[in-house]
Amino acid sequence: MMDQIIVQGGGALYGEIPITGAKNACLTLMPATLLTDEPLTLTNAPRLSDITTMTDLLGSLGAEVVSMQDGHVLAMSSHDLTSQTADYEIVRKMRASILVLGPLLARFGHAAVSLPGGCAIGARPVDLHLKAFEAMGAELDLRDGYVHAKAPAGGLRGAVIDFPIVSVGATENALMAATLAKGTTVLKNAAREPEIVDLAECLRRMGAQIEGEASGTITIQGVDALHGATHPVVTDRIELGTYMLLPAICGGEVECLGGRLDLLEAFAAKLDEAGVSVTQTERGIKTSHKTGRVRAVDVITEPFPGFPTDLQAQMMALMCTAEGTSVLEEKIFENRFMHAPELSRMGARIEVHGGHATVHGVDKLRGAPVMATDLRASISLILAGLAAEGETVVSRVYHLDRGYERVVRKLRGVGANLKRIKEAHPDE
Ligand code: EPZ
Repeated sequence: MMDQIIVQGGGALYGEIPITGAKNACLTLMPATLLTDEPLTLTNAPRLSDITTMTDLLGSLGAEVVSMQDGHVLAMSSHDLTSQTADYEIVRKMRASILVLGPLLARFGHAAVSLPGGCAIGARPVDLHLKAFEAMGAELDLRDGYVHAKAPAGGLRGAVIDFPIVSVGATENALMAATLAKGTTVLKNAAREPEIVDLAECLRRMGAQIEGEASGTITIQGVDALHGATHPVVTDRIELGTYMLLPAICGGEVECLGGRLDLLEAFAAKLDEAGVSVTQTERGIKTSHKTGRVRAVDVITEPFPGFPTDLQAQMMALMCTAEGTSVLEEKIFENRFMHAPELSRMGARIEVHGGHATVHGVDKLRGAPVMATDLRASISLILAGLAAEGETVVSRVYHLDRGYERVVRKLRGVGANLKRIKEAHPDE
């Protein structure tokens, strides 16, 4: 459905926002259930449409996923799998579906997963995932849009895998597969995101032998089998960073409950450089900005611990009304400035040249009808609407539902004036 969110720009925001479990941790923790025939339970899970999609995908393989406590607990079991084929119909909706490939290959020795295809922010190939599995002895056959993978007769073999570029998904897929491979696997130039650390902690609870998950070089000793576990999903650092920006863009003071500074130090440092007060409290992270405009700062997106690409669109929204000129360089994805033309409709002054966006801060944005194009772009338009004069109508907000649980309720909780309207059915 093509719902819309109507935002009335307004004054400063005050209050607290509970931060939910991380979508991007949950999307790799859920496929981990395929590594064992014992139950894996995730707590602090976010209630999001991407989680529902992963639930459907696991269900299509015969796994059981019971969602409890309003979607915040996922009790999973893949004791009775009926298929090792991930169909295009589900995979095309969410790229993270490729993360079932490593676990299926490691536990069953064969799998067929539809190639995910690109998405709005880029081509997003999976070549690094496939090269990792080939290094572990798998034979891959790409045909009719699927990758058909087959492990050697004795199972996957440990290998030294040196990633040419840092890839979160490829690191996660290889890490999961390596837990059941014969012998030792070393992942070099591996991603170090908190979601990788969270996955390693969960796999260790399941009996995996893993070291170095926060270092960029991960060493895994394969074991014969993994057992069940219960694991709390780590806090969502991207939701956290998004809501930390509210006082900076609207004025006021907001405390993000459950926030941890170690999850986003580079981002917090940029807020500090822009003149925003950022403090870790015993309940979370408090940000405040009471007078005038923030200062323009330059941003370069990089793998963790650098500035996260998933917070680039939100930062651009802030820079639209900053004092001065900001240059944002997007180094992770090739097409992640689609929010720029939408922000320009609100009066922002942005020049995009390839991977660079130059933002000349203006005094005030003006509300306008705008369109969400991808998950993080959609929230940046909401942020801009909260700071703008007048009304902003954001359409195609289904993108939002992929990654922001109860966004209207959480923003209303700090005084924001916005509402969601269901698109009137054409023949109503
Ligand atoms: C994960 O995507 C996140 N998604 C993304 O969040 C996040 O932006 C990204 O990591 C970077 O941090 C999930 O965790 C579900 P990559 P992923 O592999 O794993 C290229 C959001 O908004 N690449 O680290 O797909 C790729 O094209 C989403 O929550 C290859 O060339 O990202 C990109 O340019 C958006 N070959 C770069 O590497 C490969 O085999 C980084 O991609 C894999 C990736």
